[in-house]
Amino acid sequence: MSHLVAPSVLSADFNNLERDAEMINNSLADWFHVDVMDGVFVPNISFGFPVIKALNKVAKKPLDVHLMIVKPEQYITQFRDVGADVLTVHYEASPHLHRTLQAIKAAGMQAGVALNPHTPVSLLEDCISEIDLVTIMSVNPGFGGQKFIENTYKKVQDLVALKKAANRELHIEIDGGVNLDNYGKLVTAGADVLVAGSTVFSSNNPTQTIADLKVPVG
Ligand code: DX5
Ligand code: ZN
Repeated sequence: MSHLVAPSVLSADFNNLERDAEMINNSLADWFHVDVMDGVFVPNISFGFPVIKALNKVAKKPLDVHLMIVKPEQYITQFRDVGADVLTVHYEASPHLHRTLQAIKAAGMQAGVALNPHTPVSLLEDCISEIDLVTIMSVNPGFGGQKFIENTYKKVQDLVALKKAANRELHIEIDGGVNLDNYGKLVTAGADVLVAGSTVFSSNNPTQTIADLKVPVG
């Protein structure tokens, strides 16, 4: 299967959110990537339930919700109720990760785990069978438009090995600094979901940029 592209709404124009959502609907994008930041887990605040609910009214593709918040387990059903299809929590914010993953799936969503740049893939060995998607952060979370961290390729390799050994259905998502120069190498390494914020929304033709990121590799 070809890789998926998930434009990050964080880089959209919030005065024209419906217009940008329609652009994603009418593009080759697969998912909406929705970044929730609480100002505690990360040094930035983005948006919460009312905005996601409004987005979900116009979005015709799955919402891939990335929680950069402390205590994500407290809000699982609320994110489901505003339209999340994939709900991703950070490893670093989840002392009871196994329980949280089960709760996300029991609520009817796909369960994701995001790893900060310093967090090794090996820490997921004992719960990999519970995970639908791993998000490898290729920047430090909190802001769009940052520079891609090159060590990401090594982490993709590690995760591909774990996927082959223990969970062949796993999605490997890359989040941060994805662009037209590095997406091919990421897909070749084994990534199958690419998040792209500034690359899409800072371009002159976001619809075409999404199509460019969807061009099959290899
Ligand atoms: C970073 C967010 C990313 C961000 C990506 O904390 O999780 O999803 O929006 O933006 P770009 O693609 O501009 O790095
Ligand atoms: Zn994200």
